[in-house]
Amino acid sequence: MYTLMNLILLVPLLVFLFRHILSRQRRLRKPYPPGPKGLPFIGNILMISHFNHRGLAKLSRTYGGLLHLRLGFSHLFVVSSPDIARQVLQVQDHVFSNRPTTIAIRYLTYGGSDLAFSNYGPFWRRMRKLYVMMLFSRKRAESWVSVDEQIHKSVRFVAVNVGKPLNVCKLAFSLTRDITFQAAFGSSSSTSDEVRLEEFLEIIQEFSKLFGEFNVADYVPSWLSWFDPQGINERVKKARKSLDGFIESVIDDHLHKKKGDQNIDEESDMVDQLLSFYKEEGKVNNSVTKINLDNIKGIIMDVMFGGTETVALAIEWLLTELLRSPENMKRVQNELASVVGLDRWRVDDTHLEKLTFLKCIVKETLRLHPPFPLLLHETVEDAEVTGYFIPKGSPVMVNTYALGRDPNSWSDPESFNPGRFLGPGAPDLKGNHFEFVPFGSGRRSCPGMQLGLYAFELAVAHLLHCFTWRLPDGMKSGDVDTIEGPGLTVPKATPLLAVPTTRLLCPIVS
Ligand code: HEM
Repeated sequence: MYTLMNLILLVPLLVFLFRHILSRQRRLRKPYPPGPKGLPFIGNILMISHFNHRGLAKLSRTYGGLLHLRLGFSHLFVVSSPDIARQVLQVQDHVFSNRPTTIAIRYLTYGGSDLAFSNYGPFWRRMRKLYVMMLFSRKRAESWVSVDEQIHKSVRFVAVNVGKPLNVCKLAFSLTRDITFQAAFGSSSSTSDEVRLEEFLEIIQEFSKLFGEFNVADYVPSWLSWFDPQGINERVKKARKSLDGFIESVIDDHLHKKKGDQNIDEESDMVDQLLSFYKEEGKVNNSVTKINLDNIKGIIMDVMFGGTETVALAIEWLLTELLRSPENMKRVQNELASVVGLDRWRVDDTHLEKLTFLKCIVKETLRLHPPFPLLLHETVEDAEVTGYFIPKGSPVMVNTYALGRDPNSWSDPESFNPGRFLGPGAPDLKGNHFEFVPFGSGRRSCPGMQLGLYAFELAVAHLLHCFTWRLPDGMKSGDVDTIEGPGLTVPKATPLLAVPTTRLLCPIVS
C-alpha cells in the first residue's frame, strides 16, 4: 500500500524535476539562428526545392548570414556572410571539419571511404597525406607535364576545326578528362572518341546531381527508408554501378600490366602507386587507419571528380563571360599578344607569371561561378557562433556563391568586372578573404588547388591566345545566357557553342 502511494507521489515529482532541468538547460543554451518558421514535425521540408545555392542565398537576404532550417527532426545551417564563414572555416575550423552524409553520399562514396567525404580524424589525415603524396610527390611531377601535353593536343584539335561551331562544354571536359587520365591512370583517350566521352560525361554529371540533390528520404525516420518520392535511391544504385565498372576496369588494367612489367618504377602512375601501397598496407597495418580496397577506389573517384569537372566547368564559364563581354575579351587577347607574341602559339609558365589581366579574369570567373557553390561541412561537437547554437552532428553549408555576390563586400556584385582584382589589397585565392573562397579554406580546403589552377589558367591562356572566338551566326553577345543546371557543382544549363578562327601569324604544329 505504502509502495503504491510512494509511486503515485514520486512520478509527478520526477516529471516536474525532468521538466525543470530541461527548461533550465534550454534557458542556458543559446538560441538557434533565425530562419523561416516550419510546420510541426516536418519543419521546412515543403521548401526543399529552393534549397540550392541561389534559393539559400535569397533566404539569407531575409534571415541573415547564419540561417537555420529544420528538415523533419534534423537541422540545417547555411553560412552566407564573410564574418561567419571566417568563424566556421578558420577560427573554429576543428569543430566544423566533418562532412555530412546523405543516402546518396553514403552509397556513392563506398560508405564514406574516400577522402572528400570521410569524417575528420586520424583516418582522414592518413588519406589526405596519401592523396597529396600521390598527386604532388616528385614522381608525380608528371601530372604537371601531362597538363601541358593535353592542352597542346586540345589546341591542335581546335585548330583543325576552325570555322565550325564547337561545343565548349565537351571540349573542356575532354581536355580535363585527358589531363586527369594521363596523370592518374597513365593513359589518355583520343578526343575523337565521342562515345566514351559522352558516357564519362554522363557518369560525372549524374554523380554531381546526386551529391547535390536534397532528398526527402534523408529526413524521415530509418523505418521509412523505403520512402523515395523523388526516385533517388534507384538512380544512386545505377550511377554507382557504372562508376564501379569503370574504376574496376582501371584497377584490372593496372594489375595485368604489372604482371608482365619488370620496370614498374619507370612506368608507374598514380594507380600503380596506390596498388603497391595497398599491398604493403596489408602486411604492416592492422589499425583503424588501415586503407582498404574501397578506400583506393574512393581516392580514384575523388581524383576523377576533383580533377575533371571543376576545371572543365570553370573553362566553360570563363569563355561564356568573355563572349558576353567583348571589351574584356579584347583586353586579355591584347595582353596575350604582347606577352607571348603572335608569332608563337605555346604559352608557358614564364608567360603565365606576366599575364596579370588573365589572372584577374580567372578570379572573376571563380567569384561569379564557384565550381562548388556550397561547401558541405558538419559539426564535430556542439558549437556556438555569434551567439547562436549549432548542435553536434548538424550539416553546415558555406554558400560560396552568396559570399562571392555579397553586396557588402563587392561593388556591383552581379556584374563581370575582372578589373576589380587589379591592384594591391584585392582578394587572393589563399582562403584568407572569406568573401572569396572558391577552393574553401582551412583543413578541409582543396588539396588540388595548385594543379587545378595551373590547368585552368594554362588552358584558357592557350584557347584565347591561339584563337579568336565568336558566337554562332545570328547570335549577339547579349544572347549568351548564364542559366545554371542542377548539381553539387554548377554546370551551364545549355552548353556554350562558339566558333574559333585563326589569330596567329604562325601555324599550330606539334
Ligand atoms: C578549379 C578547380 C578546383 C576548384 C574550384 C576546387 C574547389 C574545391 C572546394 C571548394 C573544396 C571543398 C572545400 C571545403 O569543403 O571547405 C574542394 C575539396 C577537394 N578538392 Fe578541389 N577544386 C578544384 C580542383 C581540384 C583538383 C584538380 C583536385 C585533384 C586532382 C581536387 C581535389 C579535391 C579533394 C580530394 C577535395 C576534398 C578535400 C577534403 O575533404 O579533405 N580539386 N575542392
